[in-house]
Amino acid sequence: MNVLIIGTGYVGMNTGVVLTYLGNRVTCLDVNEEKIALLKQGKSPVFEPHLEETLQLVRENIKFTSSYAEADIPNTDVVFITVGTPSLPDGNADLRYVRQAAESIAENLGEKFTVVVNKSTVPIGSGNWVEAIMHEHFQNNHNNGEKPDFNVVSSPEFLAQGSAMHDSFYPDRIVVGSQCERSVERLQELFGPLLRQDFPAPPALPRPEGLTEVPLLVCDLTSAEMIKYAANAFLALKISYVNEIGRLANKVGADIQAVSKGIGLDKRIGNRFLNAGLGWGGSCFGKDTAALVATARDYRLEMPIIESARAVNYSQRVLAVDLLQEKLKILKGKHVALLGFSFKPNTDDLRDAPSIDISKLLIQRGALVRAHDPVALTNARSHYGNLGVVFCDEVGEALKDAEAIVLVTEWPEYRDLDWESIPPVPIIDGRNFLDKDQLEGLGFPVIGIGR
Ligand code: UGA
Repeated sequence: MNVLIIGTGYVGMNTGVVLTYLGNRVTCLDVNEEKIALLKQGKSPVFEPHLEETLQLVRENIKFTSSYAEADIPNTDVVFITVGTPSLPDGNADLRYVRQAAESIAENLGEKFTVVVNKSTVPIGSGNWVEAIMHEHFQNNHNNGEKPDFNVVSSPEFLAQGSAMHDSFYPDRIVVGSQCERSVERLQELFGPLLRQDFPAPPALPRPEGLTEVPLLVCDLTSAEMIKYAANAFLALKISYVNEIGRLANKVGADIQAVSKGIGLDKRIGNRFLNAGLGWGGSCFGKDTAALVATARDYRLEMPIIESARAVNYSQRVLAVDLLQEKLKILKGKHVALLGFSFKPNTDDLRDAPSIDISKLLIQRGALVRAHDPVALTNARSHYGNLGVVFCDEVGEALKDAEAIVLVTEWPEYRDLDWESIPPVPIIDGRNFLDKDQLEGLGFPVIGIGR
């Protein structure tokens, strides 16, 4: 099929590369010409394991452009909207890029039936809004009374950064929100190889053992939009829940890791997203929980569980600094090394990263902060150069003369550091990730979260 992807962020790039790999002719459009120039050279604008190498595999069949005319919408079967929807200060999502995309698609529609798929995380009800904008814009641009032939579908994306390629090839489910039969049939065909899992696995991304099919859930548009928010909010709740239990574990002398394991073994609960620590960051959980609360407010509804999960999450960052202060007594003038700056491993993304709040708090309380990250330093320097943190290319530089260490991101290489050669100082293990026994054996006081 002919596919157009509008927006080349994580979701757009992964969708584009995967659909090309599955045999479609794909065009990726982005109004940012710098990104397009980079992509034309075969380089990904985002750091994501296996993305660039898979892009190399499909390069012949994927096109990049900033021009809607070149994107040839009249001959496109499916258009995906995968533009950014950042948070506004009131928690609502900023839909200006979605509107621009909808208007541009409408302007360029041809005679053929076109399926427009919203993959960006948009507030509940936005599918209808996109459809209305497109109709209005089409009429404004075609004054001969012609009727456009298109349908807007919601098919939310569930990939996680750092494992985005894997999640796109081997999803837990595919959701298609539409009551239009033609759209559902077309998407069933487009997603067919993923549903049947009958494509040859890319060399670097072997198919998980036993995966023979992926469930497809077809529902109405609004429910599909809600599934995305409800899923993210649930995962966020799980993390905040375990962090809240972790605080009590700390008081009563229990170990949250044992507790997590014990509750996760109950199949009704499941063991994932039960790691206590600094809580969630990234572009999704904070933004989506805020948007869900804001949507509920439009209906004069409170969301106390989600609001509490947010409060618990952001106070974990303060807790880490408090724990360090309790240990060192005086933070003023102390050299603190931060290990990791990205919001999670395998990404250079710093959106809502706990490292930023932790750095600010430490600096406010008078500490001198040096930070290392294996891939996020370019982003850190360009977006957070004024934070007052010294960013170090070598981990040894960050650790030099450190009087305390805070492990913020669980990059595997931090576990494998030559700890014997590092003078023992207190460590706040913000992800309960380091080998506590080994480090304590070497004389490092290790303070985990909820342990
Ligand atoms: C999340 C969801 O996992 C995806 O399913 C969803 O598609 C995506 O948001 C999105 O809406 O686009 P992502 O934010 O990339 O994906 O990363 P996660 O792996 O979910 O991690 C989010 C944060 O939670 C990270 O900061 C991580 O360190 C933290 N986390 C995760 C914990 O603190 N504890 C855990 O047990 C798991």
